[in-house]
Amino acid sequence: MSLAGLHSTPVPADPAIDAMVAALPKVSLHCHLIGSVAPQTVVDLARRHGVRLGRSADDLYDHASYQDLGEFLRVLDVVGSLIRDADDFARVTYESLTAGGAAHGVLYREVHLSPPGHPGVPYPTILEGVLAGARDAEADTGIRAGFVVGLCRERSGAAAVELVEQVVGHRADEVLGIGLDYAEIKGPPTRFAEAFRLARRAGLRRTAHSESGPPDHVRVLLDELGCSRVDHGYHVVDDPAITARCVAERVPFTCTPVSSDVGRYSGSGDGTHRRIAEMVDAGLLVTIDSDDPPMFGTDPTHDHRVLAHALGWRRDRLAALTRNAVEACWLDDTDRAVLLARVKAGVAATPDAPPAPQEDPA
Ligand code: ADE
Ligand code: ZN
Repeated sequence: MSLAGLHSTPVPADPAIDAMVAALPKVSLHCHLIGSVAPQTVVDLARRHGVRLGRSADDLYDHASYQDLGEFLRVLDVVGSLIRDADDFARVTYESLTAGGAAHGVLYREVHLSPPGHPGVPYPTILEGVLAGARDAEADTGIRAGFVVGLCRERSGAAAVELVEQVVGHRADEVLGIGLDYAEIKGPPTRFAEAFRLARRAGLRRTAHSESGPPDHVRVLLDELGCSRVDHGYHVVDDPAITARCVAERVPFTCTPVSSDVGRYSGSGDGTHRRIAEMVDAGLLVTIDSDDPPMFGTDPTHDHRVLAHALGWRRDRLAALTRNAVEACWLDDTDRAVLLARVKAGVAATPDAPPAPQEDPA
């Protein structure tokens, strides 16, 4: 696969849609901390640590220049290697939650951390920084946050077990569960069964990426890794039996329209977001987020905007996906009820846009 030359199809300015998507409250379950670092922050961190970047941050984030997902993931490595001490983690967490979150109406975010993406940084340092950043972000904007620790599927099962041991040994209430990220092609989910068992025994929730994998990987995630949700999971709709099971069990799928369109996982790179539409039509519990927002030229508002244009969805259909995210999130029932009330109030205060024009059947 080549990502070269691919951009998510641009959408026209439309004041009514733009006002609607900006005002809608949002709940964010699929956003990576490393992937949400703003370009200027990359430059600042490089300077702080005396690292020559070699290219401007804008070039670094030119997703049309990534030859494939592997190259994109190596850009993440460069950014991850610049986040080194607790102050760095506090800064990038704060910015992800405020300018990258609350400013777009995000009320709650479960931030995906990738400790293996920060070589040499002890897990307690990461934890200290992200908790401080989240505390400050909540104090300044009201956004709440939890954390998901991603195991790197490019590494061994033993390395994943070690990371879960770290998470369990340095337990924090805000760390709600684990995930499984980086290049799917390099790490079949079964390799991580032991790490996921350990997490389950410790009371951690579980999710995992399945973006390019076959529908059977969704089954493996549910049955062998004990996941209670799936990141992406677009191929589920290729298998009617597993789709029916996921509908019946209300398994959440955290979809990311723009990043997956650029990567040609959820459609054909043409902005139709075909698979997301199929998943919603099939009755699956779909949520919407941005994955690695500045790296894919998007943000939470823009991911909603592209669906409004491509699929003709307006306030109530988009708000239904946000309510799905409230159902899918890992807050306890009391906090979930508070979040749901905030979402409902925000939706009620959001102006709807006029319906999309009907297509001429002729
Ligand atoms: N960050 C870490 N792994 C990722 C993946 N597979 N896709 C997008 N962002 C990621
Ligand atoms: Zn992701």
